[in-house]
Amino acid sequence: MDRKQVIEAQTYIKEKLKVQPTIGLILGSGLGVLADEITDAVSIPYADIPHFPVSTVSGHKGQLVIGNLEGKQVIAMQGRFHFYEGYTMEQVTFPVLVMRELGIKQLFVTNAAGGINESFEPGDLMLIEDHINNMGTNPLIGPNDDKLGDRFPDMSQAYNRELITHAKDTAKQLNLKVQTGVYVGNTGPSYETGAEVRMLRYLGGDAVGMSTVPEVIVANHAGLSVLGISCISNMAAGILDQPLNHQEVIETTTRVKQDFLTFVKEMVKTLV
Ligand code: HPA
Repeated sequence: MDRKQVIEAQTYIKEKLKVQPTIGLILGSGLGVLADEITDAVSIPYADIPHFPVSTVSGHKGQLVIGNLEGKQVIAMQGRFHFYEGYTMEQVTFPVLVMRELGIKQLFVTNAAGGINESFEPGDLMLIEDHINNMGTNPLIGPNDDKLGDRFPDMSQAYNRELITHAKDTAKQLNLKVQTGVYVGNTGPSYETGAEVRMLRYLGGDAVGMSTVPEVIVANHAGLSVLGISCISNMAAGILDQPLNHQEVIETTTRVKQDFLTFVKEMVKTLV
């Protein structure tokens, strides 16, 4: 991690802002619509920000949206960088460090994931209580920035317990069903085999996806409080007798978009 690059990106963004954001939001596949709810927004395409990874996928809406959400100042990533796209772990997690440098204290990380737990249904929202890094690498490999965090950061409460309690209380108040569980981060881009999904279930996984874990490791290292939400977009491979496809992922996230929006907005609103 090159701290100078983080500062240059932060400086560029900060010059465009009137207020300082306190909450960061990383919006996963099909969940970017939350950024459309932000008012008095300043939008900055990733391509304009110094040292930000350049998106290679055409039609990819990669931008930061910064402004007011339910009375709080937030900075949202509309589109994230995935390891499977060929970005390095450093590139995937660079925006987290920039958001931290801009002053956020809390990071909400969202994703679409396959349900491993057979009691889940497509369309469920799952609060991430813990994760399993199954990506075979770690974004903190390399020299440690001691000013940022420890060489060997604690990950025993990677997902902030108070934020989980707040999320559960909010769901109850809204009469919204939420699941809780363990998210497994795989590299992708191929979906899992049925045998891999059975293995992940034996290992304690409840949902599987191709993101989130790198950002959450870096966020914890840098002292941010993390809340993770998965939208269960499909049952993981082998559970139902049908092939997986990305279309299903997008269709499900679109279907539950309203619940997701209501849930996250209410959480942000009532956060102290
Ligand atoms: N597996 C991995 N990643 C995913 C899935 C899945 O079933 N669904 C959405 N992202």
